[in-house]
Amino acid sequence: MTVLTLDSIAVPDLHPDAPLTWRKARLSDIDAVHELIGYWAARGLMLVRSKQLLAETIRDFQLAVAEPHEGRPGGLAGVCGLHMLAPDLAEVRGLAVHPNFQGRGVGRELVAACEREARDLALPALFAWTYQQKFFERCGFERIEKTNLHPKVWSECQRCPFFENCNEIAMYRRLSAVSGQRSVP
Ligand SMILES: CC(C)(COP(=O)(O)OP(=O)(O)OC[C@H]1O[C@@H](n2cnc3c(N)ncnc32)[C@H](O)[C@@H]1OP(=O)(O)O)[C@@H](O)C(=O)NCCC(=O)NCCS
Repeated sequence: MTVLTLDSIAVPDLHPDAPLTWRKARLSDIDAVHELIGYWAARGLMLVRSKQLLAETIRDFQLAVAEPHEGRPGGLAGVCGLHMLAPDLAEVRGLAVHPNFQGRGVGRELVAACEREARDLALPALFAWTYQQKFFERCGFERIEKTNLHPKVWSECQRCPFFENCNEIAMYRRLSAVSGQRSVP
């Protein structure tokens, strides 16, 4: 497995009052998504994602894009992915908000966009690994014990460099009861 080494990764100095556009990611967004996730990964809050992996999963991602404003550049204000794990479960992953936009509802709106997409797919449940338990609780998730996790979650974990030493919390959100499908990840 390739583990990427990060030094200091900088992000553009976006204006916190810049208007935002909400849209799905495109391949041309890979560099900006890589940079913003890398910014937080370098601070130990997220897993780094290679540009190759981002390209393979680019259709997972919802973005908040800030316009240029008052002489400051435009750029990526936030990103969040919805990744299918199984026919009855998807993971909210790769959630990162630009430091100048934290605490302004961007993270919640990105998770809500993933949730709308999940409901369109008739998914009964969402799952997330995180250190941000309180944030996910505010988004309607609840903590679940790792012993109750769907096997597919663990098969993904085995590819993670922190598999043997993982302190992330498992969060779960039921979307609806769908007959014949499992309801616990
Ligand atoms: C965690 C993160 C995604 C939250 O996004 P955000 O846009 O700053 O959060 P929001 O403004 O949408 O907050 C929504 C709610 O969660 C709360 N909240 C957000 N971050 C919180 C935190 N770290 N601890 C406690 N509560 C938090 C807010 O106060 C708000 O509460 P409210 O419902 O009472 O208004 C963002 O700060 C971030 O990118 N952090 C660094 C990277 C990271 O940890 N990513 C998560 C990987 S799973």
